[in-house]
Amino acid sequence: MNKRVVFLPGDGIGPEVTSEVFKVFNKINKDLKLKILTEEALIGGAALDATGLPLPEETLNLCKKSDAVFLGAVGGEKWNNNPVSLRPEAGLLPLRQKLNLFANLRPIKIHPELISCSPIKESYLKGVDILILRELTGGIYFGKRGRTSTNAFDTCEYTISEIERILRRAGNLAKKRRGKVTSIDKHNVLDTSRLWRDTADKIFSEEFSEIELEHIYIDAATMHLLSKPNTFDVMVTDNMFGDIISDEASMLSGSLGLLPSASLGHNNFGLYEPVHGSAPDIAGKGISNPTGAILSLAMMFRHSFNLNFIADAIEDAVHQTFSKNYFTADLSQEKTHHNVSTSDFGNEVLLNLSI
Ligand code: IPM
Ligand code: MN
Repeated sequence: MNKRVVFLPGDGIGPEVTSEVFKVFNKINKDLKLKILTEEALIGGAALDATGLPLPEETLNLCKKSDAVFLGAVGGEKWNNNPVSLRPEAGLLPLRQKLNLFANLRPIKIHPELISCSPIKESYLKGVDILILRELTGGIYFGKRGRTSTNAFDTCEYTISEIERILRRAGNLAKKRRGKVTSIDKHNVLDTSRLWRDTADKIFSEEFSEIELEHIYIDAATMHLLSKPNTFDVMVTDNMFGDIISDEASMLSGSLGLLPSASLGHNNFGLYEPVHGSAPDIAGKGISNPTGAILSLAMMFRHSFNLNFIADAIEDAVHQTFSKNYFTADLSQEKTHHNVSTSDFGNEVLLNLSI
């Protein structure tokens, strides 16, 4: 394969989880003789410290020349007082936007071995299998903003074509799943939501008549995600609502550390990152959970390389690791659980990997 992957470890626990991903990637690349070229580059706080910029030109160019990018995490207290354009997040957000990665897929599944780790009662978790589709390159994250000493504003703006393309992606993803799309908005208050809802009605009636479309307000959605999570299939929403609701949804599965994500555009190129952040409080202790990161690698093989059997094998290996009672500290509240370090967990995934 004449392919390239760029690894961006980033900050906090980013480098630790990225090393585990790298181990899994290297084994697959070697055993299957895929010959995918790998490169590593700086982003976020690590890039700020080394170059003064959160997204150095060199990193952006390497990413543009690659077929897929893996990112650990960005952010940390050290850079909290930096001006907005010199914060670690100012590395990630332009990267998503410049690569036109408008569709962020955040799947939430319940691993049967982890039911007791969820703060939600077991009876509510049965059959939960949700795909959150978050619009990633528009909305309030990228609108005009400003601040004086006594006033501040952020604006949320969407064009109809930005809304159409994410809704079409939702419809197409739902076709391959259970055929239901829940569109989440704040139609009773926001104009962007009114354009969003009208566009959804039009697109789904014209192009996806076989898909069941429902609309709910974001406030109700946060409630229903806890009271009836198994009624959702694809949940599609804007950038900000998607950010919030995906952290909430992670708690269904037991830990934010479990969730993978893929950020995609119109072709196979993708940026893959665990949903968790840089968690500076636990960085360097070897206790972070590499599951979300390793499952993001599975998403890379599925979406960027069309190698579904590898994606399945990685997911199986993670399941087997849980079945064998290997849990990182975020999950091992149960006495029967075997509390292992980040790298022991990664090593066990490697042992369970059969390709
Ligand atoms: C996420 C993160 C980012 C976001 C931050 C780090 C800018 O929370 O990927 O969910 O808000 O998109
Ligand atoms: Mn987030």
